[in-house]
Amino acid sequence: MKSSIAFVLDGKVVEIDFDRSSQLTPTTTVLNYLRGLPQHRGVKEGCAEGDCGACTIVVGELTANRTIEYRAVDSCLLFLPMIHGKQLITVENLQELSGKLHPVQQAMVDAHGSQCGFCTPGIVMTLFALYKGGSRPSKDEIGDALAGNLCRCTGYEPILKAAAAACDGQGRDHFSADEAGIAELLGSIAPDGISISTESQRYDQPATVNECLLLMEKLPDSLIVNGATDVALRVTKKFENLHHIIDCSRIAELRSVSGGDRSLTIGAGVRISEVMELVRNDFPGLYQMLTVFAARQIRNVATLGGNIGTASPIGDSLPVLMAYGAEIILRSRRGTRHVKADSFVQGYRKTDRQPDELIMAVMLPRPSASARIQTYKVSKRRDLDIATVSAAFRVDLDKQGMVSDITLAYGGMAAYTKRASSAEAFLSGKHWDRKQVEEAQNLIDKDFSPISDVRGSAEFRRIAARNLLLKFWSETKG
Ligand SMILES: Cc1cc2nc3c(=O)[nH]c(=O)nc-3n(C[C@H](O)[C@H](O)[C@H](O)COP(=O)(O)OP(=O)(O)OC[C@H]3O[C@@H](n4cnc5c(N)ncnc54)[C@H](O)[C@@H]3O)c2cc1C
Ligand code: FES
Ligand code: FES
Repeated sequence: MKSSIAFVLDGKVVEIDFDRSSQLTPTTTVLNYLRGLPQHRGVKEGCAEGDCGACTIVVGELTANRTIEYRAVDSCLLFLPMIHGKQLITVENLQELSGKLHPVQQAMVDAHGSQCGFCTPGIVMTLFALYKGGSRPSKDEIGDALAGNLCRCTGYEPILKAAAAACDGQGRDHFSADEAGIAELLGSIAPDGISISTESQRYDQPATVNECLLLMEKLPDSLIVNGATDVALRVTKKFENLHHIIDCSRIAELRSVSGGDRSLTIGAGVRISEVMELVRNDFPGLYQMLTVFAARQIRNVATLGGNIGTASPIGDSLPVLMAYGAEIILRSRRGTRHVKADSFVQGYRKTDRQPDELIMAVMLPRPSASARIQTYKVSKRRDLDIATVSAAFRVDLDKQGMVSDITLAYGGMAAYTKRASSAEAFLSGKHWDRKQVEEAQNLIDKDFSPISDVRGSAEFRRIAARNLLLKFWSETKG
């Protein structure tokens, strides 16, 4: 196990030995590290919580066929060990060797895409990742890529124009020319796990599930992270010193995907942006919900396992997993077990997971042809917002139009994601018609006692929950 990390920056391998650094700790964010380097201060801190995109950088990762995949991420939520073995690209790296601006920078100049310039480095890095995607993005794709970048003064039209002008579908630039060399440097960084101990912190990044389970058993008070998009806020907002972290983002097994005709099993470490591609065709309800999950910079890091692990009452995936009848696969040194998504969460941020258990994967059974599944997220903004109320509904009807199976799962209506059991019981065996659904709407008030908070009043939540059921009926009545 190594106690230092290594990554590629400015075309060289950079090593950080935490024993020798008086300023850097394993939970120093990549943003704060870069702000300490005089030649990389283009990156900005706006919110330090993943909401503004001013800190956007691009991380290059070696793929199995030795190409490099570029992802825009928020550096304010990334702990330094998370870039171990990766390429770190900042706005200062974009200029072409001839001294010319990179095509995305030039397009921003030509379209007058910047005024005060505070947001500009982050926007340019988002555009750079889009450019390296190598396709000609549609208007919607450009909007989606930029949803995590706020600009207070320019107005978005020139920025959208710059994106459309720059992304020519080729993605060629000096990074393409250097790719083989960078791949070699990345390949030279040992793939072993790392274990960093400083006076007040320990940070382990095991390379295998077995190593991880051993550590969890030995150090039961440690905190598991994967993307850390949730956990990092404890450092950046609450200034907590997290004493012992087990970071499982390096474990290949957690990123595996398997399946067949009956089900799809997605590893807990698969990122939300990757989950979207996996479920786009066969699990459209889940895909739909994930299109309004945070913004691309977060989806590029956040994992499915982390979303379940938070057990947030307003987490986006859990209601949908309930509607699809998903199972969560847990493993400890004692063995492996499957838990139904609807019995996994047991209270406010309380789950059935034992301290020595790792969330390994989610198994999604493929729905029968008769199943109708829809998902809804009610939030103040469409993009980059947390749900006020969310819902995932499934109804199976028999040949006579009677309800043979129904799941009505809600987020934001209780201390945890919960099914509307009285409404479900009432509708089971009934004809799927408006009269019955209106009766069931009344029972939703019995199933939930929502609270009022900054996102919405209890009354708003109650009305939204009732109306979502009616909307579902009107969309599925056949
Ligand atoms: C700006 C912003 C916007 C967001 N928007 C949304 C949104 O729209 N919808 C939404 O649902 N969430 C949202 N989130 C919350 C967060 O991004 C998600 O919950 C995300 O999926 C967490 O994944 P992660 O890998 O980053 O988890 P981490 O932060 O690494 O971990 C989260 C929790 O899960 C546990 N955990 C992680 N992996 C495992 C594992 N394999 N086994 C056991 N426990 C594990 C951790 O111990 C921790 O308690 C947002 C967060 C931010 C900062
Ligand atoms: S500083 Fe706002 S997203 Fe990172
Ligand atoms: S140019 Fe001023 S915030 Fe975007």
